Amino acid sequence: MTNQPKRVSILGSTGSIGLNSFAVLDGLSPDYQPISASAHSQWQQLASQARKYQLEKVVITKPDCYEPLKNELSDTKTQVLCGQEHLVDLAADEHCDILIVAIVGAAGLPAVLAATKAGKRVAVANKESLVMAGCLLMPMAKEHNANILPIDSEHSAILQAMHSGHRREVEKVSITCSGGPFRTLTKEQMAHVSLEDALNHPTWDMGPKITIDSATMMNKALEIVEARWLFDLSTDEIEVVIHPESIIHSMVEFCDGSTLAQLSRPDMKCPIQYALTFPDRMPGLSERLNLHDIGQLNFEPPDFERFPALRLGFEVAQKGGTAGSVLNAANEAAVEAFRAHKIGFTQIVELTEQCLRNHNWKEKPTLQEILEVDKLARQEVENCLEDLGAKKIR
Ligand SMILES: NC(=O)c1ccc[n+]([C@@H]2O[C@H](COP(=O)([O-])OP(=O)(O)OC[C@H]3O[C@@H](n4cnc5c(N)ncnc54)[C@H](OP(=O)(O)O)[C@@H]3O)[C@@H](O)[C@H]2O)c1
Repeated sequence: MTNQPKRVSILGSTGSIGLNSFAVLDGLSPDYQPISASAHSQWQQLASQARKYQLEKVVITKPDCYEPLKNELSDTKTQVLCGQEHLVDLAADEHCDILIVAIVGAAGLPAVLAATKAGKRVAVANKESLVMAGCLLMPMAKEHNANILPIDSEHSAILQAMHSGHRREVEKVSITCSGGPFRTLTKEQMAHVSLEDALNHPTWDMGPKITIDSATMMNKALEIVEARWLFDLSTDEIEVVIHPESIIHSMVEFCDGSTLAQLSRPDMKCPIQYALTFPDRMPGLSERLNLHDIGQLNFEPPDFERFPALRLGFEVAQKGGTAGSVLNAANEAAVEAFRAHKIGFTQIVELTEQCLRNHNWKEKPTLQEILEVDKLARQEVENCLEDLGAKKIR
């Protein structure tokens, strides 16, 4: 390590991953130093982060939060910016060595693209950007010598296991999945679950969108697509294993019959830190694993009937191109509709599948085309909601 600290920017600093990122940086101080951050609506939280870490710049993306944030920080040296376009400026800022993208949803994509083009280390929690545009991002990273490193615990586990062999020696990647809160429910029971039930994850404490994605297992579907792009895997090389304890975060099987697994408590500080220090390891804050206390680890095959999102994940990973953009956008819009009590739980995946079926797929899309597909899929979900609303009224 040189004497110069690594300068880190955190986009989405007020969320679950954002807060864990600051905790990791506290532990890595003074070798790693936060320099800028962004939030969407929680301006008070962003203001206290700016004060505590004497951040150089902060970006708030919800326009009506700009004035109160600016006033709150008026006696500091922190530059306060407003608007999505400034996320791209932070991402490409030459003073930033590592960008953590902890924004939820498609809103994270422009920043991931900008940091990749600028040749940075991009620690990506925002799996949605890889699902939407993995076909553009991975070649772009190669061209610009950027390093896209996963924060997702499963992909971090795969990265760590892959480190002990060569890509050509990998036979299979097993992505583990807790099964979420509805692992043992029937399809009929799932049709009647509430928003509160869906937000009650058994092992992980996360933001609301990914928690609902975990309940439908769309999160695993997104992760299958993410793994396909990050590690250049075919769908024949990927399997999903239900592992309710969330202790093994994924496994890689090599051609000699060895399977390497990465184990740790379900705590995102571990993969966040690895994305920052890779390929090195530094002392970390995560609580240590005590296998005597855990006693038993369980595994089950996934049920594609009860959790059809998994089938969509494999299908989209195989197709590539614009399919990821539809999957992600339709799911985001459907999750929002579920959170607004406009649709039932099982309709999230039904609507998403319907959008996929109606989509005119393109194998090698431009960014413009990917964004257009995103817009159309959201519009299609909107139209379906109007139809559903009309049916209810009749
Ligand atoms: N949480 C986990 O354990 C976990 C694990 C693996 C992967 N991930 C991935 O990490 C990402 C973040 O998840 P999370 O659980 O941390 O979510 P979260 O708690 O909901 O936080 C989301 C962050 O994004 C900001 N944000 C929301 N909408 C935005 C917009 N339109 N433009 C810019 N910023 C926006 C939020 O700002 P405000 O709060 O200020 O509104 C917040 O800082 C997701 O892609 C998720 O899939 C999360």
